[in-house]
Amino acid sequence: MADDVFFTDADFEMYRKLIYNESGIHFTATNRSILESRLKERLRENGLASVRIYFDTISKDKEELKNFLDSITTNLTRFFRNQAHFDALQHHVVPELLKIKKATGNYNIKIWSAGCSTGEEPYTIAMLMNEILPPPWKFDIVASDISLKCLMTGKEGFYADTRVTGIPDAYLKKYFDKVEGGYKAHADMMSKIRFDYHNLKNDSGLRNLDIVFCRNVLIYFDDVAQTAVVNRFWDSMASKSFLFIGHSESLFGMATKFEFVKTQWATLYRKFI
Ligand SMILES: C[S@@+](CC[C@H](N)C(=O)[O-])C[C@H]1O[C@@H](n2cnc3c(N)ncnc32)[C@H](O)[C@@H]1O
Repeated sequence: MADDVFFTDADFEMYRKLIYNESGIHFTATNRSILESRLKERLRENGLASVRIYFDTISKDKEELKNFLDSITTNLTRFFRNQAHFDALQHHVVPELLKIKKATGNYNIKIWSAGCSTGEEPYTIAMLMNEILPPPWKFDIVASDISLKCLMTGKEGFYADTRVTGIPDAYLKKYFDKVEGGYKAHADMMSKIRFDYHNLKNDSGLRNLDIVFCRNVLIYFDDVAQTAVVNRFWDSMASKSFLFIGHSESLFGMATKFEFVKTQWATLYRKFI
């Protein structure tokens, strides 16, 4: 435990509690230095000298609280991250949903990318759904995150040359335009995705979703917060629907009604009542 003047153990505890209560994100002693460096940045931007004063600021100023939470998130992502999930989407989930939904006469598939970061995940889903859905089937995607900066990137749909490496060439040509320094997503693909600020600690208000992707987000939460988030997913999903979580994440031992599904491509969960 470090107890320096800038950021004492008591300060760490105070911030840790606030972050957890506001977002579900669980800071441990191991990532204390990350918090400390992000706080230094926030203090510099706000022209403040002490973490105590900044704590008072974010306790009163909701906008700065959002900026602070944004600054402590980890936003690592990439196009076609964990291809096995997209194979399971293509070969298991979509064929199942087409069978189930055909009988209802509802030809729209509703998808949520929860914790979408800078948008690579929802754009990957959009490209794939566009390829695999036969007419008259349609889809729409809500992509949400707690990071406003990330959401702006997603909404802009511009990705630097170095970031599009995971996109197969044929998809890159079909769904993006080459522009200076990178690639810009086509307007018709962008129109399928609604980027929206949402903190997973709250109910999203979304209902009847057919597929939820929440990958590499739960790892930042403790068991209590994870269970609460997963049970809120349950409420937002249709009676026959599918949930993807990160490949290093699991609902094992959690009090949820989701059923584990093992496909030949990847494991996932379903709500099948
Ligand atoms: C590591 S990224 C994962 C991005 C993408 N799902 C993937 O797997 O590539 C985790 C994202 O979760 C978001 N996040 C963390 N806590 C959140 C919360 N309470 N509500 C909404 N998003 C949150 C972060 O801002 C970050 O962009």
